[in-house]
Amino acid sequence: MTSTTITAAASGSWTLGDLEINRIGFGAMRLTQHGEALRPDAASSGRRQAVGVLRRAVELGVNHIDTAAFYFSPLRSANELINHALAPYPDDLVITTKVGPGRDPSGHWLPHAGPAELRGQVEENLRQLGRDHLDVVNLRVLGTQSIAERFLALARLREAGLIRHLGLSNVTPAHLAEAQAIAPVVGVQNMYGIGVRPEQDDFLRACGEQGVAFVPFYAIAGTGRQAGASGVESEEVLTVARAHGASAAQVRLAWTLHRGPHVLAIPGTGDPGHLADNVAAGALRLSTDELAVLDRVHRAQG
Ligand SMILES: NC(=O)c1ccc[n+]([C@@H]2O[C@H](COP(=O)([O-])OP(=O)(O)OC[C@H]3O[C@@H](n4cnc5c(N)ncnc54)[C@H](OP(=O)(O)O)[C@@H]3O)[C@@H](O)[C@H]2O)c1
Repeated sequence: MTSTTITAAASGSWTLGDLEINRIGFGAMRLTQHGEALRPDAASSGRRQAVGVLRRAVELGVNHIDTAAFYFSPLRSANELINHALAPYPDDLVITTKVGPGRDPSGHWLPHAGPAELRGQVEENLRQLGRDHLDVVNLRVLGTQSIAERFLALARLREAGLIRHLGLSNVTPAHLAEAQAIAPVVGVQNMYGIGVRPEQDDFLRACGEQGVAFVPFYAIAGTGRQAGASGVESEEVLTVARAHGASAAQVRLAWTLHRGPHVLAIPGTGDPGHLADNVAAGALRLSTDELAVLDRVHRAQG
């Protein structure tokens, strides 16, 4: 199922806070290097191709881009590429970034930001993206400890007008409840896909009941995580893919979108062909029988 004409609108839309977006978006983590992401010694990507992928994404109707200041390789920064490729930004483009983690200039991980350091991370994103406010900022969490102080710090930056909407990433239902007592949360971005963390199914449903977007990351890469997709695929996924003339990656994306109208996709790629395929996956409609088969794979592999 390849197409250069299917646009992101085919996936339907969702409103993040007051910002309407198409459900198929784009994740910027793969743009800055070839191979494994977030390595200090990553092989930097070609600038022209990365800029081309971003511009093509917008031409294909993508109006939700996920990024972070810590998405960089020795020679490329995702935020700088987005700024160069897309500014002045289209009115309907929503850029979501995340704060908490940080990397030093050589690309080595730093300790996560405390409440006092979050303002600096927000401002770093503002500078790199060339904006005076950020549409959505996710607090990216590690572990299960309280996020109240850090989320309160971000809520103050929201009140000050630096941030329009707040979200969370890598969190538990308890984190969501803790944050919601402080300020509205428009989205939860967690690792999820076929066979990836099926124990989150209830959390995904609960987000939908509360009008909170659920935004899976690694929906294609799965357990390959930052190393990327392994290319090894279950026979069930391949069978469904063949029936639609689609790829396994497209079936994986389509399955996440079928989990609920509040589920958004942010597939990452540096490949223009994969970009078009990922956008086209928003038009893939899976039958009840196919969903039942894939749901079984999901639960069995988890
Ligand atoms: N909140 C968090 O903690 C967190 C963590 C990780 C990522 N994220 C965000 O989530 C986004 C999605 O994650 P991701 O980029 O790692 O994972 P992904 O979309 O699940 O998978 C990307 C991997 O699949 C390949 N791929 C993409 N489209 C394909 C297609 N149509 N056919 C075959 N292979 C395909 C990519 O390689 P090619 O480049 O060769 O296409 C890459 O190896 C990231 O870009 C980032 O914005 C958030």
